[in-house]
Amino acid sequence: MNILILGGGGREHALAWAALQNPKCDKLIVAPGNAGIAGIATCAPVDPCDTAEVLALCEEEAMELVIVGPEAPLAAGVADRLREAGLAVFGPSAAAARLEASKAFTKEICDACGAPTARWARFTEAAAAKAHIRAEGAPIVVKADGLAAGKGVVVAETVAEAEGAVDAMLAGAHGAAGAEVVIEEFMRGEEASFFVLVDGTDVLPLGTAQDHKRIGEGDTGPNTGGMGAYSPAPVMTPEVETRALEEIVKPVVAEMARRGTPYSGVLYAGLMIDAGQPRLVEVNARFGDPEAQVLMLRLGAQALDLMHAVAEGRLAGCRANWGEDHAMTVVMAAEGYPGSYAGGEAIGGLEDLPEDSFHQCFHAGTARRDGRFVSAGGRVLTLTARGATLEEAAERAYAMVRAVDWPGGVWRSDIGWRALAGGGAP
Ligand code: AMP
Ligand code: GLY
Repeated sequence: MNILILGGGGREHALAWAALQNPKCDKLIVAPGNAGIAGIATCAPVDPCDTAEVLALCEEEAMELVIVGPEAPLAAGVADRLREAGLAVFGPSAAAARLEASKAFTKEICDACGAPTARWARFTEAAAAKAHIRAEGAPIVVKADGLAAGKGVVVAETVAEAEGAVDAMLAGAHGAAGAEVVIEEFMRGEEASFFVLVDGTDVLPLGTAQDHKRIGEGDTGPNTGGMGAYSPAPVMTPEVETRALEEIVKPVVAEMARRGTPYSGVLYAGLMIDAGQPRLVEVNARFGDPEAQVLMLRLGAQALDLMHAVAEGRLAGCRANWGEDHAMTVVMAAEGYPGSYAGGEAIGGLEDLPEDSFHQCFHAGTARRDGRFVSAGGRVLTLTARGATLEEAAERAYAMVRAVDWPGGVWRSDIGWRALAGGGAP
């Protein structure tokens, strides 16, 4: 099978690695890819959101399956156009990807199907939004409705902070994404990510993970795209997973089908779990980054078979075989991230890192210059390891981090602290 993966981050490097473990993968192209991905697959300098270019590439290279990594091409309808052209596509239609592209839409779906989530209201006028905030009190959560690269959410500790967030969003801090704001009840509990494959009607749970969104140790400082993750997430006990599937995922999937916009792809449910009750925080229409890195290392070759089954609408009867294993990924980022940062810093030691089914260095943002790897992004490397226990996975991942020769690189040394401490504080 000839496979095209759209995207160029650590997630796509992990997806590419998993696809290559499967003997069904004959030819693999990643567009645009990155310098790390170029070590295992062909990279094509094509913009994943440019439908015409992607279609031309598929035709030239006789692609058969397209796996869409990031959200932007999904929201732009690239999956729709590729499907119309007769390709098998892993990734939802633009209509179904609204579950990620509009927070108010997801809330409407939850209300329509009774999925537990935070109480909410939507506003386009600052005065009405502020009156609502004052009536509800703090803490309270203010969100830009649209895609804001993970930066459109303010968990406000005070009424004044929430009002300030409303003003900033409606004034255009996130462009059109903030023309409407969603104001939500603050939910307490522990967060976890639940990944479920969906082929329109059938669902298959694909594992759990916990991300670390804050830049600083102990979950402090500004939000990032994610500084590390591990899988499985112990807070997702079998009971919580069953509740999340029955009370949230299945009703949402049924409601999307009922509306004539069936969901096909991976449904990433961000959950808040309190006293065994999962509630929906958000939906993403794709794998998480860096959560994909830990899931792919654990799944290996079978990931491709499962994504292919989703793309062809034959998920019924498929199952994932999980080992009794744990995986962790630690992100190395450029100093200054998630604010401004420099690029072009030389990174050494990568050639000597172990590379097997227990250790992988997935590149998030690197380039090649004069034969050397250099940093070329905020998140640059995701050092990913697997072990019989989370402790073993952590030891292996951090040993890789220490072996990277990049004085400018920053990372969190406490990835997995909740699980490693048995659920307590660090
Ligand atoms: P989102 O982009 O919707 O996932 O929000 C980003 C982060 O904000 C989440 O991962 C949570 O940590 C936090 N958050 C969002 N909504 C809520 C809520 N209603 N209650 C508490 N925390 C929230
Ligand atoms: N790591 C969070 C996300 O991919 O949305």
